[in-house]
Amino acid sequence: MPPIQSFLETLYQEYRDLTAGQVASYIPELAKADARKFAISVVTLDGRMFQVGDFQQEFTIQSISKVFVYGMAMEDWGRDRLLEKVGVEPTGDPFNSHIRLDETSHRPDNPMINAGAIATTSLIKGDTPTERLNRMLAMFQRYVGRDVYVDISTFLSEKATGHRNRAMAHLMLNFGMINGDIEEALDLYFQQCALLVTCQDLATMAAALANQGKHPITGQRVLQPEYVRDVLSVMYTCGMYNFAGEWAFRVGIPAKSGVSGGLIAVVPNQAGIAVFSPPLDEHGNSVRGLKVFEALSQEYGFHMF
Ligand code: DON
Repeated sequence: MPPIQSFLETLYQEYRDLTAGQVASYIPELAKADARKFAISVVTLDGRMFQVGDFQQEFTIQSISKVFVYGMAMEDWGRDRLLEKVGVEPTGDPFNSHIRLDETSHRPDNPMINAGAIATTSLIKGDTPTERLNRMLAMFQRYVGRDVYVDISTFLSEKATGHRNRAMAHLMLNFGMINGDIEEALDLYFQQCALLVTCQDLATMAAALANQGKHPITGQRVLQPEYVRDVLSVMYTCGMYNFAGEWAFRVGIPAKSGVSGGLIAVVPNQAGIAVFSPPLDEHGNSVRGLKVFEALSQEYGFHMF
């Protein structure tokens, strides 16, 4: 057994009984998640997979989608034009904060917080809502390497209760930060968050970013290399919200978390790694996920510095 596989099994045994953290409940459908589910997946650039636990369990991608939609918006608009619309500055605020949306700022701070992600999604090109959704699904499909679907229950659950996101979209519309039909933009944002993935899928997607935008198994190009650098930079500084500094200090690789318990990290030129475990800490990051990544980074020297 290769050392990585046995190390993953050790980590799985070590943390499977950890009871800390709470499953997200502010989207009613997410409250149904099974707190015991736990998976770790590693995908190397040559497509080898090392996995343990519930790595075939499907769950909604949530905020991890922001990384890939940001890459898509880069390809749709180019770096300079996108930067005019959405900044790249970490905020140190929670992911759903509206505090810094005011008249003096002409764009949301970064594409990983909800405001910036909604603005980014509103920029996805396409003549109709269906075309924009289909373009987005095709993008995710290239990363995952198979057909992907939106979980309708989670989409509708968030659409019905996402008042905070809706309020932020209205504020951004009022300040001229976004244009167009915001209900359509919110629908597309809620749909991207409700995309069904497995831990194995997430590690594969991260591996494509580790591989300069080339899929580790299909060999297909999923993102232009010049934008891979941009996406990874924003993940590194903003991907873990108000824990981003701690994460950069302790783990030291670009990462992104989501409220359903997914957590991905990219080890450039080596591998994509994902953990799935629904209980979250106060920042909205997976408790077991943090433990696993700290241990992996230490064991294999992943820290970039
Ligand atoms: O916008 C929301 O609240 C969710 N659809 C996604 C948030 C999320 O995953 C934040 N991550 N920690």
